[in-house]
Amino acid sequence: MTSHSYVSELFSLEGRVAVVTGGSSGIGRAIAGALARAGASVVVVARKESELAATVAELAADGCRTAWVSADLSTRDGVRAAAQQAAEVFGEPDILVNSAGINLRPPMGELGEDVWDATMAVNLEAPYLLGQRFGPGMAERGFGRIIHITSQQAHRAFVQSGAYGVSKGALESLARSQAEAWSPYGVTCNTLVPGFVMTPLNARLSADPEKVAALAARTMVGRNGLAEDFAGAAVFLAGRASGYVTGQAIFVDGGLSVH
Ligand SMILES: NC(=O)c1ccc[n+]([C@@H]2O[C@H](COP(=O)([O-])OP(=O)(O)OC[C@H]3O[C@@H](n4cnc5c(N)ncnc54)[C@H](OP(=O)(O)O)[C@@H]3O)[C@@H](O)[C@H]2O)c1
Repeated sequence: MTSHSYVSELFSLEGRVAVVTGGSSGIGRAIAGALARAGASVVVVARKESELAATVAELAADGCRTAWVSADLSTRDGVRAAAQQAAEVFGEPDILVNSAGINLRPPMGELGEDVWDATMAVNLEAPYLLGQRFGPGMAERGFGRIIHITSQQAHRAFVQSGAYGVSKGALESLARSQAEAWSPYGVTCNTLVPGFVMTPLNARLSADPEKVAALAARTMVGRNGLAEDFAGAAVFLAGRASGYVTGQAIFVDGGLSVH
């Protein structure tokens, strides 16, 4: 066996179908690209058509099999429609990545029900509904991978965690509940936990060089995260190699959480 075929047997996603929410930007876009380049057929889901189309065009130029579905994941009907449309492109997914997320950050005392509801809808309820839609089918077929993107704020407060931290803490619990239900049937459910990653979500914080440097100093690696840092971990969690890894929160944060 050559080293190439050994690595391929462990990590190739050839023949797999993936749905990546938030796949048009930041961490989700990097993960969609990684899964597609590893061989999966990937459907990216988000709202803005121009960014979805640009993502798919970039991947198609690399020879990847990709498509996009524009949907608003902040409503139950929107999630249901997105799931249906996504499954119609390449078939029912083997891999579901929930990266779509919002962080509205009002001070706790001013956190109203609107922000609470919007945050829970996109960050927690959409992943739950998509899991309910796709998880049982994965279990029936004997293979599945559910990957949620949570946050260090699932573990500690950080810059007005408010509703966001609560949603991410619950998302880690959701992964464990899903893992408990479906792991016996070949469906692993895990979370990737970013630290501070330079993406559009953090545009305001990223524009302050002093804060960026201070955050970088809190990591062990000595820099803040890049979306591309999630590629390897996502391919690992999506593939055969991670079959005995389930219910876990895997930190991809340059050591921030343990420093
Ligand atoms: N960046 C960080 O430092 C960091 C740290 C910890 C955790 N995270 C988590 O990592 C994930 C990705 O974040 P990111 O930094 O990559 O953010 P990003 O670049 O802002 O990407 C967010 C994605 O979610 C989509 N989205 C947002 N609301 C949506 C809705 N209602 N319906 C459908 N799609 C929606 C966006 O597309 P549209 O706007 O076009 O809909 C976009 O594709 C999030 O869950 C975030 O909480 C990020």
